[in-house]
Amino acid sequence: MLLFCSALLLGVWLPRTLGASHPGLKTTEHFDHMAVLDEDGMYSLFWNFNSTHITFEAHVQTKGWVGLGISGNGNMFPGDVALGWVTDHGQVHFADRHTTDHRMPLVDKSQDWFILHAEETSSGTVLKMVRKLQTCDADDDIDINNGTNRIIYAFGSEDPQNDRSISYHGTTRGTKSLFLLNPDKGDGNYHGD
Ligand code: HEM
Repeated sequence: MLLFCSALLLGVWLPRTLGASHPGLKTTEHFDHMAVLDEDGMYSLFWNFNSTHITFEAHVQTKGWVGLGISGNGNMFPGDVALGWVTDHGQVHFADRHTTDHRMPLVDKSQDWFILHAEETSSGTVLKMVRKLQTCDADDDIDINNGTNRIIYAFGSEDPQNDRSISYHGTTRGTKSLFLLNPDKGDGNYHGD
C-alpha cells in the first residue's frame, strides 16, 4: 500500500510540480508546456499562457537565426512570425514580422511580439518572447485561439549581416499543429503531466 501511494505521488503529483522539461535544456523559468517541433530534435519550444498573453521560449540547435510563427494554413505564408538572433558579441536582433511569400519575412508596422531574453549557449540559441493572444494588429498578426494553432518554425545556420539580409533556411523549417491553449487535447504536446 505504501509502495502504491509513493508511486501515485511520484507519478501524478511530482511531474505537475516540476512542469515541462527536456534533458540537457535549462529554461529561464518554469514552463508548463513543451513540444519538440522537428524530427531531429533540434527545435524545442516551451510555453506558458494566461487569459491574455503567451510566453514562448525556443531552444534551437543553431548559432544563427531563429524564427517562430503562427500560420493561417500551415504553410510559410500568410504567417505571423517572430525572428531573431544573437551575434557573437551578444547583440540581440529581434522583430515581429509577417510572411506574404516564400521570401524574407517583412517587419510589421506594429510590433506585438516582445523579446524577454536571448542568448547563445554552448548548444545553440535561446529566444524567450511574449505576445498577446489577440494582438489587435489585424493587418499582420494572427490570433492564438483555443483550437489548433499551426505553428511554423525555421532557422538558419549563420547570423544575418543585418536585419534585411536573412538567409534561406534550407531544410530546417516545418509546421506543427499544437493546441497551445488546450494542451490536454494532446496532439504531440508534452506538458509535464
Ligand atoms: C529569409 C527568410 C526566408 C526565406 C528566403 C524563405 C524561403 C522559403 C522558400 C523558398 C520555401 C519553399 C521551399 C522549401 O520548402 O524550403 C519556404 C518554405 C517554408 N518556409 Fe520559409 N523562408 C524564410 C523564412 C521563414 C521563416 C522565418 C519561417 C517560419 C518561422 C519559414 C517557414 C517555412 C515553412 C514552414 C516552409 C514550408 C511550407 C511552405 O512551403 O510554405 N520560412 N521558405
